[in-house]
Amino acid sequence: MTGVTARVPAKLNLQLAVGPPRADGYHDLVTVFHAVSLFDQVTVEPAGRDGITVTGEGADRVPADQDNLALRAIEALRAAVPDRGTAAVHVTIAKRIPVAAGLAGGSADAAAALVACNELWATGLTQPQLCGIGATVGSDVAFALLGGTAVGRGRGEQLTPALAPATQYHWVLAFADGQLSTPAVYAALDRLRAARPAVPAGSEVAAAAEPGLDAALMSALRTGDAARVGQQLSNDLQQAAVSLFPALRKTLTAGLELGALGALVAGSGPTCVFLAANAERALELAVSLSGAGVCRSVARVSGPVPGAAVVSAA
Ligand code: C5P
Repeated sequence: MTGVTARVPAKLNLQLAVGPPRADGYHDLVTVFHAVSLFDQVTVEPAGRDGITVTGEGADRVPADQDNLALRAIEALRAAVPDRGTAAVHVTIAKRIPVAAGLAGGSADAAAALVACNELWATGLTQPQLCGIGATVGSDVAFALLGGTAVGRGRGEQLTPALAPATQYHWVLAFADGQLSTPAVYAALDRLRAARPAVPAGSEVAAAAEPGLDAALMSALRTGDAARVGQQLSNDLQQAAVSLFPALRKTLTAGLELGALGALVAGSGPTCVFLAANAERALELAVSLSGAGVCRSVARVSGPVPGAAVVSAA
């Protein structure tokens, strides 16, 4: 085999409930992951030694060395299958998912690298086995392998697929002119909570209690009613992200004023996410948001879509 290419989606979090910091520095989560049609492609080819080339959206900000999550995933896969002829590979990542945007692009590339190398090396690991390896590389890698819509717990790596009808949701993503560091946003949330220990129930800075799944969101997803889903979108990291990137407030407000069914910050941000009633409304919203000058660029995507998968092998 001379090369394998895998395609992998970006993720949104339709709910992101964050608990207090754990002893290991992570936060326990309850999240509803949703994979959308914005894809990176990762190609692996046999080579004299491991190496990496990154092209496309934000490529200059992606580490092109052993810090790259795709290479770390490949190392983790090798370690899991010793003595199986896991030869050196050159990895080429074609990025469309913006970097450090709250869309888990790095985890996506790790997931695609796992799927592609599993095929190239004929290691024959199952998706649950790849998820176990991926989870050691990043909290969102397991979901990038699974795709669809799923509830994540723990760091986000413990997944249960959500039983949902075949509804396709139409989203507009507003990419920001800048980036946010995920650890910095979690730290800002911890600070906001520490500064306001006695928050009233229903406050935006909800108390750092044990996070719970939003039954109203799950019920809305089961009915496939986009208007109800739009009303139930929630993200505990949103206020922290806005505190570090105040321009996001204007972007969120603009999208709602332009008719979005719901709006929220994607993961740790700074991408803003808007739900539209259908493809036509999404197009209108995307055009209006572009014209409003409240973001760097926009993209229309739909979801759910499947997780990382091989698209060509030669
Ligand atoms: O697992 P991953 O490397 O993607 O996480 C990046 C950072 O995000 C962690 O170092 C941590 O600061 C924060 N994080 C967290 N709790 C989670 C997931 C991520 O605090 N459940």
